[in-house]
Amino acid sequence: MTKEALTFIIFGGTGDLAKRKLAPAFSELIHEGVVKKGSTLIGISRENLSDEDYKHFLIKSVKDVKEKHHLEEINIKHLRIDFSKSKNIEQLSEALPSCEVEGCNRVYYLATSYKLFPKILEGLKKFKLISKKDIFNRIVFEKPFGENLKSSDALEKKIHKIVDEKNVFRIDHYLGKESVQNIIALKFGSKGFQHLIDNEHIEQINVIIDETLGVGNRLSYYNDFGAIKDMIQNHLLQLLALLLMDKPKELISEKIHDEKVKILKEISFSNVENSLLGQYKSYKEELKERKLKRKKTETFAKIELNCNNEKYKGVKIFLRTGKKLPHRYGKIIIDFKNPQNKIIINLQPNEDIEIIIDGKKLDKIDLCPDCKFSPNSRDAYEVLLKEIINDKRNLFVRRDEIHEAWRIVDEIVRKKKEIPFVIYEDCSNPS
Ligand code: BG6
Repeated sequence: MTKEALTFIIFGGTGDLAKRKLAPAFSELIHEGVVKKGSTLIGISRENLSDEDYKHFLIKSVKDVKEKHHLEEINIKHLRIDFSKSKNIEQLSEALPSCEVEGCNRVYYLATSYKLFPKILEGLKKFKLISKKDIFNRIVFEKPFGENLKSSDALEKKIHKIVDEKNVFRIDHYLGKESVQNIIALKFGSKGFQHLIDNEHIEQINVIIDETLGVGNRLSYYNDFGAIKDMIQNHLLQLLALLLMDKPKELISEKIHDEKVKILKEISFSNVENSLLGQYKSYKEELKERKLKRKKTETFAKIELNCNNEKYKGVKIFLRTGKKLPHRYGKIIIDFKNPQNKIIINLQPNEDIEIIIDGKKLDKIDLCPDCKFSPNSRDAYEVLLKEIINDKRNLFVRRDEIHEAWRIVDEIVRKKKEIPFVIYEDCSNPS
């Protein structure tokens, strides 16, 4: 754990993520002592806010009254910068504490559109705020990382001209959820489970993240992306990779990533007939209100995939996600060849594993006893920020994982027009 004070710079400092996730996570990490007193948080946005206004904005974002005051213990600044032009980053260089002299540690969090990532990095380089040699200049990229294979690969090239991979952290916040980390523990902690997960025993796997909320105020982004790119490209494929990957030779970051990439390479889109896309009924009205172009953007997607290796060939694999569905949950359902046997890994809101044998619930393993008292275990962003500060990389996505995920998604998108498409009532189940 770093003993030093930290300078944390958020590009997109007044955005939804900073407000809903980063401010509360930061507050908790100050409380835990992971972020030392005397650290600095600089939010960058195009809004006209004083440092005091920004501090107030962040403090207001922390819902838990007891936690709010922790943010008072660090320095909070706001800079109004149009960072779509790299020359404007000069203002940041003037505002940063004299880190070079005092050996300060910096985390740059890019919570902006991926299209701005290269400009921001060029600016940071130009004003000598990062260099490939830096030890603790960590750059965090929020998803989406590109919008298809081509843009994502191009982005990687640009990034790596400026920063070394060892300083790069690509976020998929699902990997920060403790219930998701438990998939690895479950798979490799028990030999029995490991040996059951193959085409000899399994008929079908469903990976599901259903949401009850609609798109909300992210409509203009979502309208271009849709559920396949917003959820399947990252969270659902990551869950699937964790479930199917082979045991890494060692449980260390690089080996885990190697195994995930190996399995992702075997995955391909199966067929359009068993897949389904949909849009909730009021989506059309939401577009109209915001004067956005009407598109056939999917707010629901059920996609059938194949895993083409010896171990899984023939197993039916479905990824399903959607908005404005009847329930909010994340789960993996494993159906065995014997239709009476099933394992359900509940990821959220419940965090447990149900083992059903001969149609009877044989066991329920509680993965989060504390969840009875609070809705969720530690927030994913809190976990991820801590890992970034401590330079641990298991819970981030490596560049080749992103590459493979976009390859799979490009394949789906190419056939998208042939997949059946339905309009579903808000909060009903389209499939
Ligand atoms: C985000 C997606 O990555 O994950 C959102 O962009 C989605 O559309 C969200 O709502 C779901 O995350 P969680 O943790 O609330 O299940």
